[in-house]
Amino acid sequence: MSKSPKKYLVTGGAGYVGSVVAQHLLEAGHAVTVLDDLSTGFREGVPAGADFIEGRIQDAAKWLDASYDGVLHFAAYSQVGESVADPEKYWVNNVGGSTALLAAMRDAGVRTLVFSSTAATYGEPVSSPITESDPTAPTSPYGATKLAVDHMITGEAAAHGLAAVSLRYFNVAGAYGDCGERHSPESHLIPLVLQVALGQRESISVYGDDYPTPDGTCVRDYIHVADLAEAHLLALDAATAGEHLICNLGNGNGFSVREVIETVREVTGHPVPETAAPRRGGDPAVLVASAATARERLGWQPSRADLAGIVSDAWTFARREEPTAP
Ligand SMILES: NC(=O)c1ccc[n+]([C@@H]2O[C@H](COP(=O)([O-])OP(=O)(O)OC[C@H]3O[C@@H](n4cnc5c(N)ncnc54)[C@H](O)[C@@H]3O)[C@@H](O)[C@H]2O)c1
Repeated sequence: MSKSPKKYLVTGGAGYVGSVVAQHLLEAGHAVTVLDDLSTGFREGVPAGADFIEGRIQDAAKWLDASYDGVLHFAAYSQVGESVADPEKYWVNNVGGSTALLAAMRDAGVRTLVFSSTAATYGEPVSSPITESDPTAPTSPYGATKLAVDHMITGEAAAHGLAAVSLRYFNVAGAYGDCGERHSPESHLIPLVLQVALGQRESISVYGDDYPTPDGTCVRDYIHVADLAEAHLLALDAATAGEHLICNLGNGNGFSVREVIETVREVTGHPVPETAAPRRGGDPAVLVASAATARERLGWQPSRADLAGIVSDAWTFARREEPTAP
């Protein structure tokens, strides 16, 4: 972890992952300013102790100056389905916004960046677990915009000496204190299954049970958001001028959709009815990360890989959100 206190801009810090990372930065003694337009985030999600600017990354030049030691860039639209229906919304925000942010950083002389990339940059895996040298062939505009930003960052490091780390997250889950997952619409499996346990949703759809996996349902790599946050602090230390380091972040352990549902039943003690549904296009059977690079280059060691623990933390947060009876 960083030894001397620094000052960081956290774009998207009112959202799920950004708020947890902002909280970790504060706990490590750093000064944090969150820049977020609240398009999918929540003002109350910004951790106490962080300064808050309600604004867009497209206008980052208004606020970024040489007093910042670095930027952690989470701000993006990230709904895969929406990106298929409305791709230009994703190119304009994710790529256009990141272009403006990189220019503002260059102009202000802020030369360290940690970027939220994604497993969606790889598309259909050619082998498992996925390594950073595997081909990138995104199957959605969302994944394509994230990959485009990765390419932009590679150029920025080579041409202008930016010290950059892209972290390619697999399935982020769990919660950290008051910071948890609440996307709208929700598309991630664990919060959706928890909504069934809470009685907010009748059943959980299982899209395909004839995949070549042990129980026939898709297998995904779930990483606890606090383990992910720790990797960001390590990435700030590992960032090297002129280099763009790309690291996958996952546990290397896959869990099937059925295993997640069963774990939610065990953790919550609630029945969770399932509905069989046909396979969805573009859903690979197995998506599991090799995080060997993150371990070697960042010294990262996840300590919350247990699925029951991840679900249990998400359940505590989901119940905190439960409306109280009148
Ligand atoms: N959650 C996951 O499982 C996951 C997996 C892989 C990658 N990621 C990436 O991690 C990042 C954070 O994801 P999340 O799940 O926390 O999403 P989120 O929607 O909760 O957070 C994104 C935040 O960015 C803000 N934002 C969006 N566009 C903005 C703009 N132009 N200017 C300022 N603020 C803007 C939103 O208001 C929101 O608070 C995203 O970049 C996403 O692509 C997430």
